Amino acid sequence: MSQVTLSNAVKRYGAVEVLHGIDLEIAANKLTVLLGPSGCGKSTLLRMIAGLEDISDGDLRIGDRLVNDVDPSRRGCAMVFQNYALYPHQTVFKNMAFPLKMKGTPKSEIELKVRETAKVLELEPLLDRLPRDLSGGQRQRVAMGRAMIRNPEVFLFDEPLSNLDAELRVKMRLEIARLQKELGATMIFVTHDQVEAMTLADQVVIMNGGHVQQVGAPLDIYNHPANRFVAGFIGSPSMNFLPFESVRNAENAAVVRLEGGLEIALDRVVPDTARTLGVRPEHVSVGGRNLTIPEDQFTTLGAEHLGDRAYHYVRLPFGDITILQAEGQALPQTGALSLGLNADRVHFFDADGLALGQASDQTTGTT
Ligand SMILES: Nc1ncnc2c1ncn2[C@@H]1O[C@H](COP(=O)(O)OP(=O)(O)OP(=O)(O)O)[C@@H](O)[C@H]1O
Ligand SMILES: [Mg+2]
Repeated sequence: MSQVTLSNAVKRYGAVEVLHGIDLEIAANKLTVLLGPSGCGKSTLLRMIAGLEDISDGDLRIGDRLVNDVDPSRRGCAMVFQNYALYPHQTVFKNMAFPLKMKGTPKSEIELKVRETAKVLELEPLLDRLPRDLSGGQRQRVAMGRAMIRNPEVFLFDEPLSNLDAELRVKMRLEIARLQKELGATMIFVTHDQVEAMTLADQVVIMNGGHVQQVGAPLDIYNHPANRFVAGFIGSPSMNFLPFESVRNAENAAVVRLEGGLEIALDRVVPDTARTLGVRPEHVSVGGRNLTIPEDQFTTLGAEHLGDRAYHYVRLPFGDITILQAEGQALPQTGALSLGLNADRVHFFDADGLALGQASDQTTGTT
């Protein structure tokens, strides 16, 4: 299986540039997820790798081979789409056999390969059915089988699970992860669903506006987002962003004065160029001593109870924040609201939205 390398890859439609010089290494034998909001260029990038779109500028390599001008059928990629694209009048067997038949593979070998693949995907009992007599998940597996049977160097998936209901999506997610491990395949999986990305990926590529924002393992990205976009995009509900006016640093401690005048005391220094503090709902606790909000300076906007936990939405002078509480724990009904912020879990961003050193890799000295 091969790695996929893009160097300064650009895509233009006429005068409109939609991918702006992508530099990216997609690891061999791993599952890489391209994640980003609608319109950020995920499908375009995938289609460029498949050869369904040409590359306006830059280089694309699969393994060591420059494939910019190589015909899609010769790139060793197999693509699975959101809408499965099965042949409606052909049985599961024939749908799966199709790529091999096109290649002129002998009948006995086709028979063997289809049965082998159907076994892995648990499709053996369904080989004689037509696609319309299958469930969504079964159709999706047939589409995957048709990709697998070609023994491609790279599997490309464009939102393959988005037509499935929630339960089936979880099941298919596990199925794809299992298959990837079993086949040791290079897989590139496009989604705008962060849960899918976090649970499936060895490596996540976060995209926005035709740019790569960050590449990393799911937890690395959650723990160390490179910029404000990534910080806000990964995690649900989103990270809270608190803009501030000034900082007073002391040795291993700082006081951050928020817009509106409230102050946060932290057991760490704050980088000089920081302008915004970021903290996830799950890293704010009620009853801490970092930020005390007088009774007349906050209002409770509402709460969402999910069973095991609840999200409380609170309006402060500088904006809204979300707090995660274990189920059953409410916010104080009267008096001040005291919040704890885990200093190691607080993020800082400069005026351009770039993340600055965290407590653990702090380089900025005290002032
Ligand atoms: N044929 C085309 N001509 C002009 N612009 C296009 C064309 N195809 C795509 N685009 C534009 O390129 C950008 C990226 O589109 P793309 O389909 O790659 O987004 P995406 O990240 O896959 O989004 P989604 O999550 O909605 O599928 C969009 O702004 C889209 O409008
Ligand atoms: Mg798309």
